[in-house]
Amino acid sequence: MGSRVGVVGAGYVGLTSAACLAHLGHHVTCLDNDESKVAALCAGTVPIIEPSLPELVREGLGEDRLTFTTDPRSLAESEVVLLCLPTPMGAGGTADLGVLDDALVALGPVLPPDCVLVTKSTVPVGTAARIPTLTGLANAVVSNPEFLREGYAVHDFLHPERILVGANEQNQEAAERVAALYARTDAPVLRTDTASAELAKYASNAFLAVKLSFVNTLAELCEQVDGDISKVTDVMGMDARIGSSFLAPGPGWGGSCLPKDTRALLASADAVGVDFAIVRDAVRANDHQRAMVLRKVRHAVTGSVDGSLAGARIGIFGLAFKAGTGDLRDSPAVAIARQLSRHDAVVAAYDPCVPPSDAHELAADPDGIQVLDDPYLAAKGAAAIVILTEWPDFRHLDWRKLSDDVDRPVVVDTRNLLDERVLSGTGFTVVGIGSPTTGEPRSAR
Ligand code: UDX
Repeated sequence: MGSRVGVVGAGYVGLTSAACLAHLGHHVTCLDNDESKVAALCAGTVPIIEPSLPELVREGLGEDRLTFTTDPRSLAESEVVLLCLPTPMGAGGTADLGVLDDALVALGPVLPPDCVLVTKSTVPVGTAARIPTLTGLANAVVSNPEFLREGYAVHDFLHPERILVGANEQNQEAAERVAALYARTDAPVLRTDTASAELAKYASNAFLAVKLSFVNTLAELCEQVDGDISKVTDVMGMDARIGSSFLAPGPGWGGSCLPKDTRALLASADAVGVDFAIVRDAVRANDHQRAMVLRKVRHAVTGSVDGSLAGARIGIFGLAFKAGTGDLRDSPAVAIARQLSRHDAVVAAYDPCVPPSDAHELAADPDGIQVLDDPYLAAKGAAAIVILTEWPDFRHLDWRKLSDDVDRPVVVDTRNLLDERVLSGTGFTVVGIGSPTTGEPRSAR
């Protein structure tokens, strides 16, 4: 017999949690204040691109284990309520808890006193401990951070590497109830206090960011000393202490979590006088990475790292922050495309998954980026194609045709996605990341 679960927020974390918990046999009510989103979800339409999520949402609706609502009173019978609300970057990099605070005020009069409140989306260290004081609610609060990756959200929720349940001494029974939600997954459950759980989530994301910035800087070094980043990372990755994932260089890390969580961790450390220099440097290296890509494009188009791009047509392949998602939040691809436009290039972009509403917004932006639904049109007349997202589909384009469509057959491949086999005989010159033949000439630095 499943639990009665309330989920507050129907974003990536909330919607995935709601649909997956319903799939695991619980009765889930998912609350969101966006009426059109709730109406669409009630009709089985999922507003984000996530494999298997639409199927699970429709399964939950069909089996009456999942409902969507805008009315907080619908959570009145909940045994456990998961708080899955955005905590965007606020002033000075701190996480902005405004949305969470407002939700707790609305929920206060509705929730039964024995219902467990769970912080599921990332919240700063100390939030779970502060909720009872801030809200006056007597409910037990448990920290249960979610580690899912976009594009693998359902898989990661149902087959997590670990489940983290943080609770303070007096809330151990509440922690049991939260751990029991996942009884039908086979993941190990780690039990900690709330502060350690909250910190572990930030620490994991910040560590990934440090790893990526290390690799991106290493790639730059490879270009200068005739090394090859793919060979260097092959060697590193075979050391089990390092691990082979998160070693691919790119245009910089982005998305809805890593940028905001690194800054929030820095803000938390600053607030207590801890100098987390390595994370600060990782953030700085990430800004540098975006600038480095811009330089590569300028060099590829004009022959000089500070040559003028005025009037040059650039075809952008990929706008999402990574493949497998249509999410543009804090996407390095969008940032770089905007930079190119600010340098007076004429930017036309193609991405297989960008929602039309985002495409309109990008076109309307002062640094207008035209988003086309055809890669060949985006490349037409281009002085360079720039690959910014690692969509495997780009490998399977007709690169021979593209070489006829472009003005100059040059591709800046910031994901090292294309290889010899794809481009052989097409006439394209490839400028990749981290190999001696693809970096800008040392004399140009
Ligand atoms: C991340 C964490 O992985 C996840 O645990 C957490 O819950 C949310 O934040 P996500 O935002 O979906 O997940 O993105 P992720 O797959 O981690 O990629 C983050 C960024 O790193 C992307 O911009 C991606 O392109 C970049 N990346 C990743 C690389 O540049 N190279 C790599 O080898 C891996």
